[in-house]
Amino acid sequence: MTIRVHAPDQLAWRRIGDIPMGWMRDHIDPTELEGHLAFHEAGDDGPQLMEMRLNARTLVAPHSHDDPEIFYVVEGSLHWGGRALEAGGSMFIPAGEPYSFRAGEQGARLLNVRSRADHSFVPVEQKAQVLDQFSRQAEGYGRLTGAMAGVDRSAAFRAQVGLAPEDEVLDVCCGTGAMALSLAPHVAHVTGLDLTPAMLEQARGAQERSGCDNVDWVEGDAFALPFADTSFSLVVCGAAFHHMLDPRPALAEMVRVCRPGGRVAVRDVTPAPEKSAAYDRMERMRDTSHVHALTPGEMAHLGTGLPLDPPMLNASVAADVPLDAVLATSFPVTCTIDEIRALFLADARNGEDALGFDARLIEGEVRVSYPQTTAIWVRRA
Ligand SMILES: C[S@@+](CC[C@H](N)C(=O)[O-])C[C@H]1O[C@@H](n2cnc3c(N)ncnc32)[C@H](O)[C@@H]1O
Repeated sequence: MTIRVHAPDQLAWRRIGDIPMGWMRDHIDPTELEGHLAFHEAGDDGPQLMEMRLNARTLVAPHSHDDPEIFYVVEGSLHWGGRALEAGGSMFIPAGEPYSFRAGEQGARLLNVRSRADHSFVPVEQKAQVLDQFSRQAEGYGRLTGAMAGVDRSAAFRAQVGLAPEDEVLDVCCGTGAMALSLAPHVAHVTGLDLTPAMLEQARGAQERSGCDNVDWVEGDAFALPFADTSFSLVVCGAAFHHMLDPRPALAEMVRVCRPGGRVAVRDVTPAPEKSAAYDRMERMRDTSHVHALTPGEMAHLGTGLPLDPPMLNASVAADVPLDAVLATSFPVTCTIDEIRALFLADARNGEDALGFDARLIEGEVRVSYPQTTAIWVRRA
């Protein structure tokens, strides 16, 4: 098969490492993509032609484009939901339509034509992804975090942040409220903020059961906190930065609402750098709102440029849980739960921990755990 491409003169071919599209460079493992990208030099309004080669079963996370585009499959195959596109096939994607695809068993080589370069690979639907996933996960999420508790990590966390009875606390991306409610009995007041109403509904239920009356819940966005500057003495965020395309503006918001001398604490899963790509790929299969789990080194440098003292860093491992407890709150879009379970089982059997979850087979059950880092900064004046 021959595909002839008539490109205007101003189209320039570049290697993948030269791509100026930050998201794509950050979120698609360059070792999985070979070939060239081509796009209009002016960057914004010109036609764009991209050729890429995807390794077998590579998953491209859900995203959408500002403008329509066409895919031509040159070699291998692509899979969209239940549909397979073989070599010679083409597919039109309307503007603004979220979609995701996976390369087939032989990988895929494709040509992609669209009209703009700059906004192309920006997954504009990230907030919609979070809302969709956590509206579905809300009910099971509380049970999962309960199963993960194992040991009382909140006591360790309270000691690390130097919790004081007069603290006014903000828990950003509070989810079902576990962290907020564990801090509430020890401080003056806690505000929990989250994007997803269904998670906040679970948090309100947990508050009623706990009897804490010094907690408020606010629906809002971590990137535009609805609070005045310096409103809180302690601002925390747990297990949420990995759902953000770029968590630095969210950290800047946390710093803005923290008073000078107050503390800003972020805890999140942090796979080792050599496991990072495989970890992200697996998490995106399991939860389409996952973007990138920072490595411990990335977490350590997250506050660079903000008015913060160097962070105190604590590495820990979240207590191990049965894989089935995690899968019970998983709503994959591009594959099935059974496919995910099979990948974990294979990883546990060969003992290589290629996925970065320390998957282990214990009495016939796969168990996983999450390496995490807590970074605690003091806000400078
Ligand atoms: C994995 S849950 C973690 C919940 C809680 N912090 C915990 O540790 O159990 C991630 C939460 O982040 C929230 N979230 C993600 N992006 C957000 C954003 N931009 N603004 C506010 N909440 C967000 C989701 O709605 C979800 O409740």
